[in-house]
Amino acid sequence: MEFSVLTIFPDMFHGLWNYGMVGRAIERKLISASAIDIRDFTGDKHRTTDDRPYGGGCGMVMKPEPLARAIDSARQKSPASAVLLLTPQGRPFNQEMARSFAGEDGFIMVCGRYEGVDERICYDLVDHEVSIGDYILTGGELAAMIVIEAVTRLVPGVLGGEDSAALDSFTGELLEHAHFTRPPDFEGQPVPDVLLSGNHREIEKWRFESSMVRTFLKRPDLLENRDLSQQEVDLLKEWCSRIESIVQAQSARGTDSSSGGE
Ligand code: ADE
Repeated sequence: MEFSVLTIFPDMFHGLWNYGMVGRAIERKLISASAIDIRDFTGDKHRTTDDRPYGGGCGMVMKPEPLARAIDSARQKSPASAVLLLTPQGRPFNQEMARSFAGEDGFIMVCGRYEGVDERICYDLVDHEVSIGDYILTGGELAAMIVIEAVTRLVPGVLGGEDSAALDSFTGELLEHAHFTRPPDFEGQPVPDVLLSGNHREIEKWRFESSMVRTFLKRPDLLENRDLSQQEVDLLKEWCSRIESIVQAQSARGTDSSSGGE
């Protein structure tokens, strides 16, 4: 996997290339990554990359010529790479997209600044437009870093235990179960007993329920949009019947608001 990032701030990528999981993946040659200065492809002494928008209005637009030359040059070095433009108008980035990107040969990532890039860059030169969320950043650099980080960890061999990526939240469209480490008691809050029991069957069952509870409470939309397994349906039915009996017990005591209790 090869990432070539086109940016006017190549130094911003120093941290990403040199630390943590991405740094190690580069060191182990599982991926290669470079940040290329778009200013190196300008033709004037001021190395200008932006200009005023036609039609007036505030802000500046990234000029097409330096960008097109930078993309061309990156393409010659990495002909199998797709060109990806980071823009708030792009397709929302998610885990499924990260997984599909991880199977590609590489990406030439174009980081816009100012109001955006001249539209003509998008006509033929860009394969994917990607947004990291419905908010506006001042440039695509942080967005590119997020995409690189999410994709790199899915490249085979990058993570120690291959299945730690497979278990991640969203991969199976359920959130991951809760995690605990030592100490067994932190400020009066104990780790659930079952996790200390050594009983792997019970631990798996607890993790499954934890995963379902968290998804139900934090992201019910993920459950609504999922083909539930029989085990998941059974658990939801069990919760339903428990909730029903709590509500029935409550109304039998005359304490629920619908029965006119206080
Ligand atoms: N550039 C500016 N805002 C962005 C966003 N939300 N996603 C991707 N690139 C961007």
